[in-house]
Amino acid sequence: MAMVYSRLVFLVSICILVSQATDQPDFLYHFCLDDNGNYTSNSTYKANLNQLLSSLSSNTEIDYGFYNFPYGKSPDQVYSLGLCRGDVNPDICRSCLNNATNLLPLLCPNQKEAIGWYDYCVLRYTFSDIFGIMEDSPTFYMWNTNNVSANYDQFRQDLMTLLDSQIGQAAAGGSLRKFAAGNTTAPNLHTLYLLMQCTPDLSVQVCSDCLNGAMKLIPECCDGKQGGRVVRPSCNLRFEVFSFYNATVQSSSPSLSPLPPPVPSVSPPASNNTPAAKGKESNKSRTVIKVVPIISFVVLIIISFCIYSRVRKPREKPQSESVDEIRGVESLQLGFGTIKVATDDFSDANKLGRGGFGVVYKIQSSVYNSIGQDATIS
Ligand SMILES: *[C@@H]1O[C@H](CO)[C@@H](O)[C@H](O)[C@H]1NC(C)=O
Ligand SMILES: *[C@@H]1O[C@H](CO)[C@@H](O)[C@H](O)[C@H]1NC(C)=O
Ligand SMILES: *[C@@H]1O[C@H](CO)[C@@H](O)[C@H](O)[C@H]1NC(C)=O
Ligand SMILES: *[C@@H]1O[C@H](CO)[C@@H](O)[C@H](O)[C@H]1NC(C)=O
Ligand SMILES: *[C@@H]1O[C@H](CO)[C@@H](O)[C@H](O)[C@H]1NC(C)=O
Ligand SMILES: *[C@@H]1O[C@H](CO)[C@@H](O)[C@H](O)[C@H]1NC(C)=O
Repeated sequence: MAMVYSRLVFLVSICILVSQATDQPDFLYHFCLDDNGNYTSNSTYKANLNQLLSSLSSNTEIDYGFYNFPYGKSPDQVYSLGLCRGDVNPDICRSCLNNATNLLPLLCPNQKEAIGWYDYCVLRYTFSDIFGIMEDSPTFYMWNTNNVSANYDQFRQDLMTLLDSQIGQAAAGGSLRKFAAGNTTAPNLHTLYLLMQCTPDLSVQVCSDCLNGAMKLIPECCDGKQGGRVVRPSCNLRFEVFSFYNATVQSSSPSLSPLPPPVPSVSPPASNNTPAAKGKESNKSRTVIKVVPIISFVVLIIISFCIYSRVRKPREKPQSESVDEIRGVESLQLGFGTIKVATDDFSDANKLGRGGFGVVYKIQSSVYNSIGQDATIS
C-alpha cells in the first residue's frame, strides 16, 4: 500500500508539474523550425537540450540579460540564446527566461530549432553555433490597431528621425547590452516612444544592419498605425504613443566591463543505469503487477482531475476579434503550412487583445526574404 501512496504522490506531482508547465504565459509568438531536423524523446540531443535549458534558467550570475550557452558534443551539441529586454531587471529577466525554457520545448516537442518571444525576453535554441551571427528570419510584426488620426506624414517623419538617432546608440552598446530607448514629440499632442535592441553578440555594423532592415519593414508592418513592432531573432524594435518601458534605465550600459560570455560549468547528466538499480528489477516487477489495477484507478482519477481543473479554468475571452486577425491566420497558413501552428497562434493573437493600456494588437507573420526563408520554416 505504501507503494501505491508513493506512486500517488508521484502522479500528483506530475499533474502539478504538467499544469504548471502549461500555465506559463503564452508567448507573443513562437516558431518551431523542423525542416532542419527533429529529435526523439530518448535522444542525446534532447538530454543535452534539457541540461542546457535548466542551466540557463538556474543561472544567477548573469545580470545583464544575455545568455549564450552551448552544451554537449557534436553532432548532438545544442546552442541556446536568451535575451531580455534592456530595461527589465535581473529578477524579471530570470523569471521570463525560466518561463520560456519551460514552455518552448513543450510547444516544439521534437524540433531541434525553436524560438519564442515574450514581451520581456526571447529564447532560442538550435543545433549550430549562432554566436555573433545575425539571423533575420523568422520575422513577425505586431501593430497597434489605432490609426494616426491626422498628419501622418509628419508622424512618420518624426518616427524616422527618432529611429535614426537611436539605431547608432543601440548598435554602439557594448558586448553585454545593445539597447536604446527614447522619445520625441509627434503631431496631435503625442509623445512617441521607441525601443530597440540587438543581441549583444553582434558587431556594431551587423546590429545596425539588422535594425535598419527592421526599420525598412515598418511601412509593411504598421503603416498609419500609432504603434508597432518588428521582431526578428537578432534584433527588434517597437514604437508607441505611450510609455511602455522603464525610462529610468533607458540606454544606460551595464557597469560591468565587457567580458566574453561565460560558459556555464555544467556537469554531464548522471547515468540512471547503475548496476545496483538493475539487481532489484525482478523483485520490483512482481509488486507492480499486483498494484496495477489500483494504480490504474488512481491514475484515472488523477487524469480526470487534471482535465477537470484545466477545463474548468476560465478561458480568457478575447476583447476584440476582427477581420484582420483572421487575415493574419490565413497568411500564417499560407506561409507555414500547418493548421496547428495557425490555430495556436490565433489564440496567441487573441490574447494580445488583453494587452495593457487598452491597446489591441493584431499579429501577422511575415515571410520576407525569399523562398529560401520559407524553406526554413514549416
Ligand atoms: C520533423 O517532423 C515534422 C512533423 O512533426 C515533419 O513535418 C518534418 O518533415 C520533420 N523534419 C525532418 C527534417 O524530418
Ligand atoms: C529510442 O529512439 C530510437 C530512435 O532513435 C527508437 O528506435 C527506440 O525505440 C527508442 N527507444 C525508446 C525506449 O523509446
Ligand atoms: C512567469 O510565469 C508565471 C506564472 O507561471 C507568472 O506569474 C510570471 O509573471 C511569469 N514571469 C514573467 C516575467 O512573465
Ligand atoms: C484605420 O484605418 C484603416 C484604413 O486605413 C481602417 O480600415 C480601420 O478601420 C482604421 N482603424 C481604426 C481603429 O480607426
Ligand atoms: C524623453 O527623453 C528625454 C531625453 O531625450 C528624457 O529626459 C525624458 O525623461 C523622456 N521622457 C519620458 C516621459 O520618458
Ligand atoms: C525601473 O528601473 C529602476 C532601476 O533598475 C528600478 O529601480 C525601478 O523600480 C524600475 N521601475 C519600474 C516601474 O520597473
